[in-house]
Amino acid sequence: MYKFIDLFAGIGGFRIGFERAGYQCVFSSEIDSHAREMYFHNFSEYPVGDIREIDVKTIPNFDILLAGFPCQPFSIAGEKKGFNDIRGTLFFDIAKIVEYHLPKVVILENVKHFKNHDRGKTLATVLNTLNNLGYTTNWNLLNAINFGVPQNRERTIIVGCLDKIEFDFNKLKKIKAKKLKDILENDNQENFEYLKEEEYTLITNPKQQLSGLIFAGYRNKNIRVNGIRPDTKHLSRVHKQPNRIYSSEGSHPTLSSQESAGRYYILHDGKVRKLTLRECYRLMGFPDDFKLIGSKSKLYNRVGNSIVIPMVEEIANQVKQQLLNPNCTPNHYHSPQQMSLFDFGLSYH
Ligand SMILES: C[S@@+](CC[C@H](N)C(=O)[O-])C[C@H]1O[C@@H](n2cnc3c(N)ncnc32)[C@H](O)[C@@H]1O
Repeated sequence: MYKFIDLFAGIGGFRIGFERAGYQCVFSSEIDSHAREMYFHNFSEYPVGDIREIDVKTIPNFDILLAGFPCQPFSIAGEKKGFNDIRGTLFFDIAKIVEYHLPKVVILENVKHFKNHDRGKTLATVLNTLNNLGYTTNWNLLNAINFGVPQNRERTIIVGCLDKIEFDFNKLKKIKAKKLKDILENDNQENFEYLKEEEYTLITNPKQQLSGLIFAGYRNKNIRVNGIRPDTKHLSRVHKQPNRIYSSEGSHPTLSSQESAGRYYILHDGKVRKLTLRECYRLMGFPDDFKLIGSKSKLYNRVGNSIVIPMVEEIANQVKQQLLNPNCTPNHYHSPQQMSLFDFGLSYH
């Protein structure tokens, strides 16, 4: 059985996906006390705390490193000074573990706009660092909606392979997404938080967008009036995500790690209500026996910070087939230094 470590583990979204695909977790790290508590209740182990304080030698042997790490700028990115480029960042702590253990595969996850962060320098530096450590790297933007889940959530995924094998994202099997209405709770009506009719406005003839979302209306909520052009007041309401209402016939926008009040409003069966917490966890692919521990606000933050499990599971399956299968042969013959910041339109000066 292939072994993995779960860094920046949060509530273990990465872990569930890899365990479902038949891998074994041998180490986890997470700094947030509430996330660690939830992790303990669901996996019977407390992750080790701050990654910056881990002695890399104490981590047991493993094949795959998983990390959905916070995005920070690198100060002197692109100067090709190896670890000097990334010192003082949390990615530095990942790279230290990679350098010492040299796992077969490294998988990193980050937000959609990671590729644009610091004008591309952040992604370039991450790829360069892995290349310099001997890894062949590939990255892509993946959307949860392509893995059966009715959430429009794009994330940057980076896959590094020590055996000079390119990971082909095109081979990931896509699953037709359900509709939002297919994942709603029907047996929890007493906990539904409905809006009164005077609290919202529905638009006529809502249309499904390419993303799968059907914007159905907005809450008649605190609108900014100063500086608004005449007759555009409703737009200022509409442009605030927590004021938007989406139809359950479509998909749902990205659940956010910043949203601790759970202001996710849906139109279902002619009524407008908030998604329940369990529905939010279902939108990330968490099973219904996943234990939700602690305050509602923290549970909303945690779910918005996590990763969509069916997407992870498919990555895990493909990593096995494409990178770990004993019949896999190298298909990338360039020297590790081949990846250059010039590929991102940047210069070394
Ligand atoms: C984007 S979230 C990853 C969530 C995870 N993939 C999941 O399924 O829930 C990043 C996580 O990194 C954790 N983190 C931030 N700084 C850390 C540190 N110094 N050491 C360990 N964990 C840290 C945060 O608390 C947060 O839970």
